[in-house]
Amino acid sequence: MQIAGTTVLLTGVTGGIGGAIAAGMAAQGAHLILTGRRREALAPLADRYGARTILADLADDEDVRRLAEEAAGTDIVIANAALPSSGDLLDYTPAQIDRALAVNLRAPAMLARLLAPDMVTRGRGHICFVGSLSGMAATKSSSLYNATKFGLRGLSLAFRQDLHGTGVGVSIVQPGFVRDLGMFANTGSPTPGGVRTVAPQQVVKGVTRAIERDIAEINVAPLELRFLTKIASQFPGFAERVQRRAGAEKTMNAIVASQRASR
Ligand SMILES: NC(=O)c1ccc[n+]([C@@H]2O[C@H](COP(=O)([O-])OP(=O)(O)OC[C@H]3O[C@@H](n4cnc5c(N)ncnc54)[C@H](OP(=O)(O)O)[C@@H]3O)[C@@H](O)[C@H]2O)c1
Repeated sequence: MQIAGTTVLLTGVTGGIGGAIAAGMAAQGAHLILTGRRREALAPLADRYGARTILADLADDEDVRRLAEEAAGTDIVIANAALPSSGDLLDYTPAQIDRALAVNLRAPAMLARLLAPDMVTRGRGHICFVGSLSGMAATKSSSLYNATKFGLRGLSLAFRQDLHGTGVGVSIVQPGFVRDLGMFANTGSPTPGGVRTVAPQQVVKGVTRAIERDIAEINVAPLELRFLTKIASQFPGFAERVQRRAGAEKTMNAIVASQRASR
């Protein structure tokens, strides 16, 4: 669907990629409803884009329901917010596990469940999930992130089939490592194995294409990473051995240490 003139609900706007998506959507003439959990970070964005803002903690089910109520009538949902959820599962408390699952998977599913029926009634709308290549290939110290992003991919691809023929599209956009801003760039770490990164603008372009052309899945990453990810999704045992030999553990440990405070 064409983005100009539509109302777009965007989660995770106070983060790196969310900020870039907000700018991209505003430039294309969308009316923005921006949501985040920090009032002081949302206020300047409301001014910049003439946007409505809704304060909501996506780990809180009541907040998610209220968000959907307040954003009723939206044409496009971009479910972008997520926690990095890196580190070994054995290092997570039960509350941290619940939060990772709630923010990264439950909240996107609930927003889709609560906002799609009205889109179906109107015969137009789009739901775009921001996933990750970690939704296709497992890596060490990423079990919860992998779990939520694999889950999000399944949710998106199957929900898309449920809505086929209703006029409402569903897409997932899966970036690799993004440079300059966002949860990976904020760690200041090089990429594991030195793989190449993508620019935030490429993710925005992917989201735009997914919505405008109703594409099921767009992977935003350099060719070699997209290729390795496909291999890893088909042959996980082989991929595991390759990753171990590449010796990426030290880099991964540095990323986990830097993201520990965000659990
Ligand atoms: N950066 C990458 O290299 C990369 C690669 C692949 C996929 N992705 C995906 O891209 C999306 C955006 O990531 P990013 O890099 O922009 O990360 P980011 O800078 O860490 O931003 C994450 C956003 O999610 C929000 N969020 C976290 N917990 C929340 C909660 N309980 N309630 C409401 N909002 C919450 C954060 O809010 P606060 O500002 O309040 O923390 C922030 O706005 C994510 O889905 C991520 O998995 C990123």
